[in-house]
Amino acid sequence: MFTVLLICGGLVAFYLLLYVTVLRLPKCQSTTKLHGKTVIVTGANTGIGKATALDLAKRGARVILACRDESRAQAAVTDIQRESGNKEVLYMHLDLASLKSVRSFAENFLKKESRLDILISNAGGNTGIGKATALDLAGRGVRVILACRNQKKAEAAINDIKKATGSNDILFMELDLGSLKSVRAFVENFLKSESRLDLLINNAGIVKTELSRHVSLWQKVFIEPVARLLFLDPKTGAQTTLHCAVQEGIEHLSGRYFSCCAVEEVGAKAKDDAVAKKLWEVSERLSGLS
Ligand SMILES: NC(=O)c1ccc[n+]([C@@H]2O[C@H](COP(=O)([O-])OP(=O)(O)OC[C@H]3O[C@@H](n4cnc5c(N)ncnc54)[C@H](OP(=O)(O)O)[C@@H]3O)[C@@H](O)[C@H]2O)c1
Repeated sequence: MFTVLLICGGLVAFYLLLYVTVLRLPKCQSTTKLHGKTVIVTGANTGIGKATALDLAKRGARVILACRDESRAQAAVTDIQRESGNKEVLYMHLDLASLKSVRSFAENFLKKESRLDILISNAGGNTGIGKATALDLAGRGVRVILACRNQKKAEAAINDIKKATGSNDILFMELDLGSLKSVRAFVENFLKSESRLDLLINNAGIVKTELSRHVSLWQKVFIEPVARLLFLDPKTGAQTTLHCAVQEGIEHLSGRYFSCCAVEEVGAKAKDDAVAKKLWEVSERLSGLS
């Protein structure tokens, strides 16, 4: 009995230590008000985007929730208006997986709004957007490799994409980002079978949002308890974005990388102008803008 109590006490002490060190991150300290300013937050109906939009609304901004699902967005507008007391919170339709939707959002915005002061590009981060991107690329005749953990699910997605686009140039390669061994095997496999790579997209995070809604029930059973104890809440997760959006006196740091409300150094590859230029050109070509 004593041993059990000792272990429980140790675990609680360890969690409290984690809570006051790693899990309690700096807050955006700015008290800047935003009356008369207009802000767009993409993907603002839930998670980090919604927490960001709420904070900006409390500061008095006119906040546009740029979202793809009208009913979820309208529910968020109602919540944010009620909690902030700011009626200038509104929804405009935007589905970032469709360039047609991006264009009509921009036209709609320019027709209805007279200014834009802050744009928060938050949307993304789920399997839906990955599949939609693959669909769009395959539709444009690009050879697409679905790098996923689960072959069965990937094959189902490949069949859907083939059916929708008529393209046969879609492949599966195993990649589990949680395992360095799998990442190395993926790179070796890729270099052996492919002659070129134009675009690599990466994604990560530890904020408890709706990100896990797309995983299976069994994964949820595992993720939920860990997320409740160890992941940040969306309000905390929004602090660095808010810091970058409203903090005065950091304008000279434009273009730098921020983490925990502070500038952080990035690796040499991220500072390589030639890589940045190539990424820009490839993105322009794939999006049909060039
Ligand atoms: N959670 C983390 O730990 C974490 C950490 C670092 C970075 N991030 C990044 O932070 C951002 C927000 O993530 P979150 O954790 O708040 O995720 P979330 O709760 O799943 O919210 C994602 C938001 O993006 C929207 N969205 C997805 N695809 C879209 C599309 N094609 N067009 C328009 N809106 C779209 C979603 O709309 P629907 O509701 O309609 O699906 C939702 O509003 C993401 O870019 C994510 O990669 C997250």
